[in-house]
Amino acid sequence: MPCLLLKRFKSRRTTLPPESDGARDTTAPSATHHDRAWYIKPMFDFWQSLLAALERIAMLPSLIHSVFPRLPSRKRTRDAVRTYERTMDDLLREIQRLLEAPLTPAELMHMSGRLQEQFAPKLQASDICMLPSYNDKLPTGLERGTYLALDVGGSTFRVAVVELTGKQTNTKSMRIVTMKSYKIDNSVRHLKGTAFFDWMAEKIEAAIADPQVKKITGLKTFPMGLAWSFPVEQTSIRSGNLLPMGKGFRATEGTLGQDLSELIMAPCRKRNLPVHMDSIINDSSATLLSRAYEDPSTRFAVILGTGFNISVHLPVSALATSKYKGYPQKWLDEASHVLVNTELSMFGKNIFPTTRWDDQLNETHVRPDFQPFEHMISGRYLGEVVRLIIVEAVRTAGLFSGEMPEQLTELYSLDTGTLAAMELDGSKSLTNAATLFQEKHPLSKPPTYNDINFIRQVSQLVSHRAAAFLAAGIHSLWDLRIASEGLTPATAGYMAIGCNGSVIEKYPLFRELCQSHLDELTTASGAEPKSIALEVAVESAIFGAAVAVCCLES
Ligand code: GLC
Repeated sequence: MPCLLLKRFKSRRTTLPPESDGARDTTAPSATHHDRAWYIKPMFDFWQSLLAALERIAMLPSLIHSVFPRLPSRKRTRDAVRTYERTMDDLLREIQRLLEAPLTPAELMHMSGRLQEQFAPKLQASDICMLPSYNDKLPTGLERGTYLALDVGGSTFRVAVVELTGKQTNTKSMRIVTMKSYKIDNSVRHLKGTAFFDWMAEKIEAAIADPQVKKITGLKTFPMGLAWSFPVEQTSIRSGNLLPMGKGFRATEGTLGQDLSELIMAPCRKRNLPVHMDSIINDSSATLLSRAYEDPSTRFAVILGTGFNISVHLPVSALATSKYKGYPQKWLDEASHVLVNTELSMFGKNIFPTTRWDDQLNETHVRPDFQPFEHMISGRYLGEVVRLIIVEAVRTAGLFSGEMPEQLTELYSLDTGTLAAMELDGSKSLTNAATLFQEKHPLSKPPTYNDINFIRQVSQLVSHRAAAFLAAGIHSLWDLRIASEGLTPATAGYMAIGCNGSVIEKYPLFRELCQSHLDELTTASGAEPKSIALEVAVESAIFGAAVAVCCLES
């Protein structure tokens, strides 16, 4: 049974009329929304029915385009009498069918099972995913200390002094004392090899020159933890070999496979900075540690912003012994569990059904097929899938009366944040959404209610699909954890998941929809209702970098 929330989600979309016979745009709520065209509508209807009839008889689309060719000037293109291959309703109906068909519990359950089949060989051997760390224990939440936390994300480098005070009543157990953010733009992203790490050291120096920080450090050297939003092959709790970075970074050129800790510490030493690297972890593992510090039932963490990943706390035995090559015997003797960076974004090829828009996205991607799961759900791609649909709708169904909005034919020009803001407009007239779209992608005349309503419906469908696929991914890892703990869904008990990143934290209804699908899947597997909770973990990469250091000291 779909839960209330899913019903609510479905009811906020316009119910489409049954198959239309070729009318241009029947989604307008009233004639007033069509004021731009009211007087020419009868004329349009005449042409439309005449051409539709001709088209049916003689399969005319190409001839129609030669009678009414694409006209060069924007105004003429928009206002010209044109016909389209299909109506907006027909297109929306097809989009809805393609995007919603795979979201039944049975289909999602099937995907979850298939994902587990893909995990199996990677848990045996892979140097780019299912990467174990050296972190075996989760924090107790009582650890205390002050640390320098570094967070290298896709677009910012943040350096913070974090204070952990342990569980206390009425006070926060984690606090950012001071934090400096440095933008990572393309000029930084393109720094090659050691030049990138020199840039990092320069920023660390600037951050700790702050008098407030100096007062805290005194004469001591600062214990430092790093949250790294890229894969890393751990070689100890404080070191790891650099793996390909993705996200447009060139820091691995000439440094691939080198020790990340040393790459950062060498320029820090040159500058006589009073710091030492104590811990390196992936940002998803940092999120898990940060959330576990506050909620001991945390076992997984999801990062879903521009990038996507899941970190899990698994029994050591869930991974083949070959995955622990080089680990000290003491660690192997003592550790019962291990924090694993799954790099889940790399799974899902031939599992998640793709549409023609997903296929186009993949074909034009710099690394096609490298992170298929990420392509379906992360903030970098939700906007791009919607953009591809809009471009098709303008060309084939007359969205915006056939006028292409500015820049919208450029790859990645539609920001997922714009869609989230448009979805937030709950007004009947959708005026704010229309103004925002017009600001970002100007048209010669403002978009109509119907245009904006179409975009909102498409973005709801695309984001809903993402939330459902994420639920399937979480379910597959939950199943893996249960099996490797020797439990069953019925005996697995309650577990919390720390969530961080713009999509899962802020995209309207995203987390709620994912939670609903997750509830459906876990109960269908035989678990108690509500046995998994998705919890937001604010600033968790930076907090987690500090928690990772404090766990070592306890
Ligand atoms: C990418 C990276 C991964 C990171 C995630 C979230 O998918 O491969 O390491 O955790 O983005 O930042």
